[in-house]
Amino acid sequence: MKTDNTQRQRLDRVWLSKDSCDIEAFRVEVERRTNLADYPHALACEKNVLIYDSASLLAACATTDGRRAALAEICEALAIGPGVAVFKRAYADTSVIDAASGIFDAIIEEQHRTNSGGGDHFAKPGANDRIWNSLEKHCLKSPENFAVYYANSIVALVSEAWLGPNYQMTAQVNRVNPGGASQSAHRDYHLGFQTSDVIEQYPAHVHRLSPVLTLQGAVAHCDMPLESGPTLFLPYSQTYLPGYLALKRPEFSAYFDEHHVQLPLEKGDVVFFNPALYHAAGSNRSADIKRVANLLQVSSAFGRAMETVDRTRMSVALYPAIKALVGSGTLSPEEAANAIASCAEGYSFPTNLDRDPPLGGLAPKTQAQLMHEALAGGWSDQEFRKALDEQTRRKLS
Ligand SMILES: [Fe+2]
Repeated sequence: MKTDNTQRQRLDRVWLSKDSCDIEAFRVEVERRTNLADYPHALACEKNVLIYDSASLLAACATTDGRRAALAEICEALAIGPGVAVFKRAYADTSVIDAASGIFDAIIEEQHRTNSGGGDHFAKPGANDRIWNSLEKHCLKSPENFAVYYANSIVALVSEAWLGPNYQMTAQVNRVNPGGASQSAHRDYHLGFQTSDVIEQYPAHVHRLSPVLTLQGAVAHCDMPLESGPTLFLPYSQTYLPGYLALKRPEFSAYFDEHHVQLPLEKGDVVFFNPALYHAAGSNRSADIKRVANLLQVSSAFGRAMETVDRTRMSVALYPAIKALVGSGTLSPEEAANAIASCAEGYSFPTNLDRDPPLGGLAPKTQAQLMHEALAGGWSDQEFRKALDEQTRRKLS
């Protein structure tokens, strides 16, 4: 009898199911209030969402201890806190954003002209325009703007807080036109993009693992008043373990529709959230605001990102631009490192250990390390390209 019971409990612990999701247990998780005193770096808490002033947060990171404290606070805010935070004025100079918006508009026009790209998995066709892999397209169209855009210290800080170093940046633009309808409530990549039949085949620890392998962010490319439909969030919903499955049940989506929160954003603000947080893009009820966000999806060095990115091609394009921007003093060495981290591969593996042995350490040189070495050594563009090609070849089986 006892054995039966133990077996039953084990099955329930390891196999989560859609049928066992309980709306009352969910309410206990999400009906918590954020105590601002728990987050001393935060400026405010609005609608249960933490608001940070980017300049003061970065000032607190000036020392090693200060930075460790800020990283720890952001990590817990996303893990066990509300799961979402707004970083006001993350881009203090919005001319960088405007220049990037011009590049994105040109890419969207090109997609329309050539009838390519732009399909969306959560919205009706025509309601919005998508640029998949805006990261690589942006880098190849304007390495100079890419370098300054991804030099951003808040993007680097929050990515590191959640994922540690050597993260893999990917990005997608979403432009929601007036009249564009809202998305359905969802969680994000990886398990968020699977059907419940598939999700139920993964043991519970994978449900815990998936959200710590990615981070979702959005850079506001225009002012987003509520009528324009900034993202809807349900704070604390990331903490409900069977939440990937619960969303397939109507009482959970109904709860989201009734209790979600929405905050207006200004151009240059960045919002970051746990990929397991229930969220959905809002409907654009404005007459004339094309709501444009660059959605950052940052992956752990140890995870597999959603999109294929040709980081070698990007590194070839970025190197001359970053060399010039550092040379002219436009980018500090730290900012240049942030831009390189968003472009080049920062992790040594997978590789071919016969040809690419870990000389002088435990891991072979990464693409990012090679770019730092080239910059420090003043290599020509040709020298860097040659070394990059050789490194890429060494990693093949
Ligand atoms: Fe999403």
